[in-house]
Amino acid sequence: MNLRTFKGFGGLPLQAEDAGDTESPAILIIYEGRHTQALWQNAALALQQAGRHTVLLAVDHDGRQEHSIEHIRAVLAQLGKRPVVLASDTLASIATEALAVDAVTLAAGLILVNPNARADITPPPGIPILVVVSDEADAEPFAGLDHVECVAVDANNASENADVFNALVLDFLERRQPLAPPEYLSGSDARTLRDAMGCFATGVTIVTARSEDGTPIGLTANSFTSVSLDPPLLLVCIANKAGSAPVLRDAGHFAVNVLQIGQQPTSNRFAGKGEDRFAATPWEEGESGLPVLTGSLGIFECRQHAVHEAGDHFILIGHVLRARFEPRRDPLLYFRGKYRRLHFA
Ligand SMILES: Cc1cc2nc3c(=O)[nH]c(=O)nc-3n(C[C@H](O)[C@H](O)[C@H](O)COP(=O)(O)O)c2cc1C
Repeated sequence: MNLRTFKGFGGLPLQAEDAGDTESPAILIIYEGRHTQALWQNAALALQQAGRHTVLLAVDHDGRQEHSIEHIRAVLAQLGKRPVVLASDTLASIATEALAVDAVTLAAGLILVNPNARADITPPPGIPILVVVSDEADAEPFAGLDHVECVAVDANNASENADVFNALVLDFLERRQPLAPPEYLSGSDARTLRDAMGCFATGVTIVTARSEDGTPIGLTANSFTSVSLDPPLLLVCIANKAGSAPVLRDAGHFAVNVLQIGQQPTSNRFAGKGEDRFAATPWEEGESGLPVLTGSLGIFECRQHAVHEAGDHFILIGHVLRARFEPRRDPLLYFRGKYRRLHFA
């Protein structure tokens, strides 16, 4: 979270809490009175977790309505993007006034929480509006307007209804201000491509071999797949820059150890730096003296069949000489950059 200072009416500095993915569409939450700060911080957090950019602004309304209106217009002008504006109670009518002119250029939508039913509110045209009221009767001034949706939820009962309220706001945002799905185009940022690849759920393996002097080596890899049954072939992709790469290129034999759910620490150890990987891990000798990890879900001992260069990785193909597996354990899974476990409904 960053503290961001805007210039309000008359140059008055206004501090806002800026958080979440700044590339995403923004929601400007305007609240009054420090006593509701925790409530709005909680709402902002839920929106950030859903991928939104939030700007949380306390407007201490000093009774001069026109000052608060100008504060809000000034912040909207400086924000650099059109947010959905969320305002509650007295600030709801003030935000409405702030958007009375140029609503479409300043904001992408408006959420009014518990607007004062007696206040003379004219919803700004051209932008979608959500009105959240505690009592359906309070929604009457907005009835019959096409661009206004009204829902009744006990917004006063903050702690009990926070989740319901946050879900309502998110639903409105997802319909009215949808997030653009991330897209990778050849040559653009590798991070997005990595995230796209991360949508493919995999198991986790550790590829092991021995260096020329007999030292066991190994690294965590999820780029494992079966290739052929006849002849029995499998593959794994190894980064050229991995410390283990030179040994795996040259080794006549290697093993693929498929990990079970209890081997997450082992996976971390063989992906991390600095630790003596084999000293801290139970292992034994397999075929051709290959180091294999005791208690793995599956162990494939291979003779090197081929090595294919492939960009910043090489494809290591093994001819399976021996395969063993443990039918009763659950696999360690990997999806979207996190370890997962099987879940049966
Ligand atoms: C779940 C997971 C999967 C990985 N998959 C691969 C992979 O398929 N190929 C690869 O080269 N590195 C992969 N890595 C990264 C290596 O394990 C990591 O870079 C490791 O430190 C390499 O060790 P080394 O430099 O000692 O060879 C993976 C890491 C994790 C946590």
